[in-house]
Amino acid sequence: MGAAKHVTLGSWRIKPVGIGTWQAKSRVWGSSEPKEVIEAIVDALTEGVNLIDTAEAYGWGRSEELVGEALKKYRSNDILVATKLAGCNALPSKVVKHAEASRRRLGLDAIGLYQIHWPPSNYTDECGVIREMESLIDRGLTHMIGLSNYDSKDLSKALKCLRKHELVSDQVEYSLVQRAPERELLPALGKEGMALIGWGTLAKGALAGKAKADNLARFLDLSFRTAARNIDLQEAVKEISGRHGVSRAAVVIRWSIEKGAIPLVGVRRKKHVKSLVEALNLNMGEDELIRLDELTHMYVGRSFTKVVPRSIPNRVICSLSKLLL
Ligand SMILES: NC(=O)c1ccc[n+]([C@@H]2O[C@H](COP(=O)([O-])OP(=O)(O)OC[C@H]3O[C@@H](n4cnc5c(N)ncnc54)[C@H](OP(=O)(O)O)[C@@H]3O)[C@@H](O)[C@H]2O)c1
Repeated sequence: MGAAKHVTLGSWRIKPVGIGTWQAKSRVWGSSEPKEVIEAIVDALTEGVNLIDTAEAYGWGRSEELVGEALKKYRSNDILVATKLAGCNALPSKVVKHAEASRRRLGLDAIGLYQIHWPPSNYTDECGVIREMESLIDRGLTHMIGLSNYDSKDLSKALKCLRKHELVSDQVEYSLVQRAPERELLPALGKEGMALIGWGTLAKGALAGKAKADNLARFLDLSFRTAARNIDLQEAVKEISGRHGVSRAAVVIRWSIEKGAIPLVGVRRKKHVKSLVEALNLNMGEDELIRLDELTHMYVGRSFTKVVPRSIPNRVICSLSKLLL
């Protein structure tokens, strides 16, 4: 299949893959070396990857600060920096203050894409939050706004709140072992001209060959276990990667691009960057894509990944996520 060179995300033209930086600073991922994280981000940007994803919740500001450090070393107007407002902070009175704090930590004049990390609790004035998100564009604090972890029902509710601007994307778990978004969300986003940004692309590394749940992020992740146990899928990915002379990660990332998503890959080591570049240049055969589709067809029927139950009050979720993220 043809390797797409660029895709549009709202008003931005980017390469169809991004680097994720949750791993850069997080309790559940174990320790990372800040110098190496910064070098890996700079390497990826130098190689032409121009989407970086972070969040206020990743190390509660520390991941954004590391991204800011990397951006001091590699500046370009082409880079789309996406960050997120924690769902438990998604209150109309907090949106502007939190966006301003993220913008400052990133060292930017304006954030590229500001996303609501997960749908806030049922007790929240959701339309109030969406309208404050819109106001961030008018205030020059962000160029674009988007969502994360919204299923198709949550999405249609959020869309009804809009007054003036557009939501350009929804970032959800999407991979060979989590294909639920294909049922309703992907078509719904397509209809709205919105992008699906995928997280969990490598199932926390299992789809790239990691078999041991050696940190809490992997231990708690159902997709990690599903992928690690699926021997037929592991063999197919290995075989295809061998045929093209690329890493397993590249095959898995390319599959996601071919499905119309913009996959994120967690990168905290320099050696991870090569797979992104390989994926961008990889031309997989139709037969290879069909084989991967057929081997993972059952995962279309999985439940959509809801990272936070809406029934729990925001302040409880914020306290819990301060311990974990
Ligand atoms: N919106 C949300 O709720 C949400 C949720 C989760 C993630 N995300 C975003 O999505 C990003 C990525 O998703 P994810 O965190 O689920 O992780 P992932 O991309 O599925 O897996 C990342 C892990 O895979 C391993 N890896 C990376 N490249 C590799 C390669 N070329 N070969 C072998 N192993 C490789 C690394 O493990 P080691 O570092 O241990 O080597 C890395 O930490 C995050 O950083 C974050 O920005 C968003």
